[in-house]
Amino acid sequence: MRTYEGEKGVMLIGGIPATRLAQTFGTPLMVTEEEVLRERYRAVHKAFNDRFPTRINYACKANTNLSLLRVLEQEGACIDAVSIGEVEACLWAGFVPERILYTGVGVSEEEMRAVAQRKVPINVDSIGGLHRLAAIAPKHPLSLRVNPDVGSGHSRKVVTGSKGTKFGIPREEIVEAYREALDMGCLPRGLHAHTGSGGSDPSVFGRVTEVLVGIFEEVRVQLGLKLEFLDIGGGIAIPYRPEESPTDLDAVAEEVTSKLRGSSVRTLVLEPGRYIVAESTALLTRVNDVKSTPVKDYALVDAGFNTLIRPAFYDSYHHVAVANKFQERAEAEYDVAGPICESGDYLAKERALPRLVAGDLLCVYDVGAYGFSMSSNYNSRPRCAEVMVSEGRADIIRKRETTRDLFRHQKIPARLRV
Ligand code: LLP
Repeated sequence: MRTYEGEKGVMLIGGIPATRLAQTFGTPLMVTEEEVLRERYRAVHKAFNDRFPTRINYACKANTNLSLLRVLEQEGACIDAVSIGEVEACLWAGFVPERILYTGVGVSEEEMRAVAQRKVPINVDSIGGLHRLAAIAPKHPLSLRVNPDVGSGHSRKVVTGSKGTKFGIPREEIVEAYREALDMGCLPRGLHAHTGSGGSDPSVFGRVTEVLVGIFEEVRVQLGLKLEFLDIGGGIAIPYRPEESPTDLDAVAEEVTSKLRGSSVRTLVLEPGRYIVAESTALLTRVNDVKSTPVKDYALVDAGFNTLIRPAFYDSYHHVAVANKFQERAEAEYDVAGPICESGDYLAKERALPRLVAGDLLCVYDVGAYGFSMSSNYNSRPRCAEVMVSEGRADIIRKRETTRDLFRHQKIPARLRV
């Protein structure tokens, strides 16, 4: 969990009073600290590269803001992209195609062609996909995704690696898939798996590495194919609650790389999304109303599950503080809920906070991963603005949408205009 300093009872983000940010840019507002982003990328890169040559493919589904992508491009990161939209965003942000690996699921021929045309390597998720790619571009750089039957995740909705999920080529068929690829004139370069997202058991990384190393060697011995990279996917957790401790990156890196020594693997690939961006960003949201019911008290704020869906969708915990009453004593208990017309719309439940009044400013922590990228326009609410702070200055990196933006693609047929 990110921790913040305060000054005269006001929370500081990147050295700037949160109240000033909210006043200047409006709310709801996502505030990203550039330095935190750089620091998290460097930490994960170092922990692994000190032990084994490792490429860090940032899983940009977590956050595709172009300015965040620019920072990570400068840092030397590579990319895990899952759609043509993500591929294009990363190309716009300055990544060369070789620094991107495209891993789609259920990919259409049209999308595969578009990715291939942009010269972005493709990680194939099924035998059918392999045939489609071989027909379109047999010499295109490719790798295969296996379902390793090793699953993990903070919620069952994000477990991808266990048997029976829609992801990857089943373990039993993967060696045969490499054989088919070779028969069709393709030259696979790597092997990939992703167990899931944000699970708290770090031993999962060791287990999936073991499975992948086994396949790597089988392919070499049985088919004479020397793969270049072994990609264990993403999933490094972060602490969302104050009492949780940070993931011990050195322990994870040791666990993984110890399984690689003595193997023929030359490059390890890792695809962290959440670890790199989650703690870089906070959400500022204004209290519009405070309501007491016979059962509980509500702080009704201007961000709902349209802005941050993780609590409503996964029951995820995000820490909440009162930015303009920072570190004041908690005197009341509130559910923090948004403006969306569903009772499932909430950001936080049963939180002990200083007594609130309309106009107070709340800060929701650690929203950089799967915050903005999963936001929506539900209830016809424009998406929020984003700013990046660095060395005491704040720059807008995404303008707040307007209602007009929401309807600009709609058309009323002439016959309805009378
Ligand atoms: N690689 C692949 C193939 C993935 O599918 C994912 C995430 C990652 C890497 C990055 O996982 P991370 O390091 O961020 O855990 N919306 C959910 C998370 C879904 C993750 C989907 N795949 C959430 O808000 O928790």
